[in-house]
Amino acid sequence: MHDIIAELEARRARARLGGGEKRIATQHAKGKLTARERLELLLDEGTFEEWDLFVEHRCADFGMADNKIPGDGVVTGYGMINGRLVFVFSQDFTVFGGALSEAHAEKICKVMDQAMKVGAPVIGLNDSGGARIQEGVASLGGYAEVFQRNVLASGVVPQISLIMGPCAGGAVYSPAMTDFIFMVKDSSYMFVTGPEVVKTVTHEEVSAEELGGATTHTSRSGVADLAFENDVDALQMLRRFFSYLPLNNREKPPVRPGDDPVDRIDPSLDTLVPDHPNKPYDMKELIVKTVDDGEFFELQSDYARNIVIGFGRMDGYTVGIVANQPLVLAGCLDIKSSIKAARFVRFCDAFNIPLLTFVDVPGFMPGTSQEYGGIIKHGAKLLYAYAEATVPKITLITRKAYGGAYDVMSSKHLRGDVNFAWPNAEIAVMGAKGAVEIIFREQKADPGALAAREAEYKAKFANPFIAGARGYIDDVIQPHETRKRICRSLVMLRDKKLDNPWRKHDNIPL
Ligand code: HXC
Repeated sequence: MHDIIAELEARRARARLGGGEKRIATQHAKGKLTARERLELLLDEGTFEEWDLFVEHRCADFGMADNKIPGDGVVTGYGMINGRLVFVFSQDFTVFGGALSEAHAEKICKVMDQAMKVGAPVIGLNDSGGARIQEGVASLGGYAEVFQRNVLASGVVPQISLIMGPCAGGAVYSPAMTDFIFMVKDSSYMFVTGPEVVKTVTHEEVSAEELGGATTHTSRSGVADLAFENDVDALQMLRRFFSYLPLNNREKPPVRPGDDPVDRIDPSLDTLVPDHPNKPYDMKELIVKTVDDGEFFELQSDYARNIVIGFGRMDGYTVGIVANQPLVLAGCLDIKSSIKAARFVRFCDAFNIPLLTFVDVPGFMPGTSQEYGGIIKHGAKLLYAYAEATVPKITLITRKAYGGAYDVMSSKHLRGDVNFAWPNAEIAVMGAKGAVEIIFREQKADPGALAAREAEYKAKFANPFIAGARGYIDDVIQPHETRKRICRSLVMLRDKKLDNPWRKHDNIPL
């Protein structure tokens, strides 16, 4: 028996070494941790239960029959993050460059299947050269098996990808279908076709970093949600991020009791909005001053900055926050910001996270590039997402809510549960100046008359009381009591029940 136990340990030790000391040293020299080191940092100490340590590939071509490494390039299993269950896979670049074989894919599928059965999130740490070239179509089949599971798990359990090395070719499509993609600066990249192919086909010369590095995907393409400095930073932030999410779509997010009073007032909010309607201010100040302990986990902070999205807590309960940002493009809605916010709203709705919407929006962005780019269809995504959402929806208009954008931003008409406005809010079809230039076009030559009309229009519409008179606004509140009023509303909405009509699935304008 002792011999057998010793052999098991020897086999385990061999498997744990992955591609061997030399390749581990190369991995470290690149500033990257190994697949196992990463899981150690991600999961609570001593909680990792590994599966399939002894799985090997079944490829016999190109000398592979004699080249087998137990585990086959991916470490899989489950563990805990702050005591909460999570399934994980972590690709091991030291084994065939983390390339995905049929057996490697089967390991990933096994944890995904189990996660679905027990209702727990899946986190993938990607570091892979893509399809195992020696295996050909078996590897492609393996990818498709993973893709299929990504789709079936979507909206059932949260799926998170952390890209910690290469992720290229069709391999990008598994992370793309997960709920969130995080990247590590300088050591990770994602692209469908690499720089060489790009050069051959389009004659563009571009580095891997420029084409698909963390900065590119967090600021230009919007593919990734956030970029972190290094592996350690990324894994620590991922643990923090995880704490906002429920384990599955039948559960509510975890509650983290704190000592930030629910009735805390903040007098500085009374002067947050400048007197001049076109002067910008930072909407994030309102967010930070409203949520528990000023903790706001912002997503996509460098992309479509005219809208802000992220998670915070109110009285310990997770909320998803969407806010127009007057500091950027006056906070208007355009293609990118609509898509960014729509996907976030849908995630929150799928996972029982109440939506808190802060509105200061002058309308949709005008221009040919927006129209040719399909702002009609893309803007409709956000409208659609809010309209279909059945989670508690609380909206606060801090200043402007003009035109179609008023309707879109979680208005009463889209089943907003509680709609507040600050006293200086302007809820109208458009700004006073634009309005009088249209209605009183014939008085254009007379600036004095036009100014009088503008003042008249402003006095009539540049306030929240017309909307209040119709019940579109439930109450006009003092800025300093924003937190208190929202916290109360959330308590009232805690057991909200609302169902959409049965259908196979909806048809959001993609
Ligand atoms: C098998 C691979 C591999 C792969 C890397 N390796 N990629 N083995 N299949 N796809 C092996 C290398 O042979 C090497 O083995 C080890 O991993 C480390 O690779 P290096 O090249 O030494 O590392 P590095 O210089 O860091 O370069 C990393 C890399 C490069 C940029 C990822 O390896 C690379 O370009 N690989 C090929 C990428 C690729 O074309 N993949 C297929 C994409 S198509 P040794 O033994 O020397 O350590 C695809 C389709 C998916 O993925 C479709 C899904 C639908």
